[in-house]
Amino acid sequence: MSAEETLILVKPDGVARGLTGEILRRIEAKGYRLVDIRFVEADRELLAEHYAEHEGKPFFEPLIEFMSSGPTVAIRAAGERVIEGFRSLAGTTDPTTAAPGTIRGDLGRDWGLKVQQNLVHGSDSPESAARELALWFA
Ligand code: RTP
Ligand code: MG
Repeated sequence: MSAEETLILVKPDGVARGLTGEILRRIEAKGYRLVDIRFVEADRELLAEHYAEHEGKPFFEPLIEFMSSGPTVAIRAAGERVIEGFRSLAGTTDPTTAAPGTIRGDLGRDWGLKVQQNLVHGSDSPESAARELALWFA
């Protein structure tokens, strides 16, 4: 039986702040396996596909702008219940109230911008993981 896989992104704020190593460390320390990793300069087309569920929301345009503002590190990670486990490691969306001990809670904050810059993305279901891994590791 093959292990579950998820797509993790270190978003442009995480890369720019030099937190890629710290984020990778936390994924590995939790016990998940890094299967593949790459730098991606995401273009609008990729990001609009990736965030299709948010099209039309007020933060959609700022989100696409933010996510194309610099390189992203895309990670294919594997392990039993890794989708759920990484979402737990990442913490909730708003970094101000994300629990201490999580990536967003320990390393993120509100910068007063139009969209929350919260360091990481993690797939939220097996269907999202399959779709997103195909997009980012095409
Ligand atoms: P992600 O998809 O990036 O893993 O994050 P998530 O599931 O925790 O959050 P989601 O609701 O899918 O939103 C995607 C990303 O959009 C930005 N966002 N900003 N009100 C806001 O300022 C706001 N709402 C969402 C965040 O960067 C969030 O991660
Ligand atoms: Mg999401």
